[in-house]
This record gives sequence, structure tokens and C-alpha cells, in this order.
Amino acid sequence: MTKRPTRICAAPIPDKPTLPVLRAVAAGCKACDLWKRGTQTVFGEGSPAARVMMVGEQPGDKEDLQGRPFVGPAGAVLDKALAAAGIERKDVYVTNIVKHFKWEPRGKRRLHKKPNALEISSCRPWLEAEINVVKPQVVVLLGATAAQGMLGSQFRVTMQRGQWVKSDIAPLVMATVHPSSILRAPDDDSRHEEMRKFVADLRIVATQIKGLRAA
Ligand code: URA
Repeated sequence: MTKRPTRICAAPIPDKPTLPVLRAVAAGCKACDLWKRGTQTVFGEGSPAARVMMVGEQPGDKEDLQGRPFVGPAGAVLDKALAAAGIERKDVYVTNIVKHFKWEPRGKRRLHKKPNALEISSCRPWLEAEINVVKPQVVVLLGATAAQGMLGSQFRVTMQRGQWVKSDIAPLVMATVHPSSILRAPDDDSRHEEMRKFVADLRIVATQIKGLRAA
């Protein structure tokens, strides 16, 4: 019989948080079982004044070991796409909807496992707290886990990517693909095409923040 996931306790979000306080408290979070499997909590990173927040699914193997989001292969794709779209890293805060690496052993490798609904809802208060502190003008949800976790299970990235969607999480909210999906493209041509579309989505964000700067 598979073990049912259990909620241990609510995420201990402090009153009147700052990013350093949130990061310190999240380091000891045991709101779901994932803390037992991950090396450490991987909290978001970036300027507290960032205009754009990019939200991924969960840290991967490299992020888990280094304790920093988007420092592995998917992060390299994200950095390349941001540069191609003309978005400066200093304008961006990067984080994940789940802050522990969920994995299962496959030989010597730690294979990424998708977080379940309970793990997502247990961890989401940390992301909500990050949004409340940073107050980004734009939130970009990367992939279905982040998009559905914040916008509801009916949301379809394939249908609605690159569009502004109504949400109370930020003035402007968009979902697009997760950069790791580009790495999984079956051949060079489709990888280039997927990257082109990802950059096109991020250019919409770039245009928007340039407009905010000019205003
Ligand atoms: N994938 C994610 O969603 N987040 C990371 O931080 C790294 C890979």
C-alpha cells in the first residue's frame, strides 16, 4: 500500500517578514515530509526590489546541493532566455512553488519526482510570503506545476502560455513553459523552436517592465 502524504504542520510564516527572516525560518520548515528527503530548503533569490518574479516547480539536484534556485541546467536555459529577451538578472527574483527537492533513487542518480497537491499546498505560503514582501509587478509561472498551483488545476500552459491572466497574486501574471521542457526537446530543431517561443513569451514581460521604467 502506498503511504498517504501527511501534513505535519502549517508553514511557520513569521509576522511582518523580510526576505532574510523568511529564508531563515523556511530553513527549518517541516510542513510536509519533503524536508526528510531534500538536503536543505532552497529559498528564492534576487533583489527585494525586483520587478519580476519567476516561479519554478522545485529545486533540482544541483539546486538541492547548492541551496540556490535555478543554478543547474534549467537555470542555464532560463539565464540564456532572459538575456535574449533583454531582461536583466537584477530585475528578477527567482523562486519555486515547492522549496525542497523531491526525488527517488535510480541507480546512483537522484531522479526528479513531481510534487503532489499536499506538498504544493503546504509550501505555497512561503511563495505567497515572498510575493507579499517583494511585491513584483510581474509574476511569471514556469511550467504546469507552478501555474496550476497558483492559478488552479484547470489552467493549461499549452493553451494559455504567453498571455496575461487575471489573478490577485500580482498586477501582471503570465505562465509559460518550464525551461527544463526545452532541454527535453527530442532534437535540435524542436529545441531551437521551443527556445524561440520561450524567449518570445519573455519579450512580452521585457516590454512591460521597460514601460514601467519609463512611466
Ligand atoms: N527547476 C525548477 O523548477 N527550479 C529550480 O530551481 C531548478 C530547476
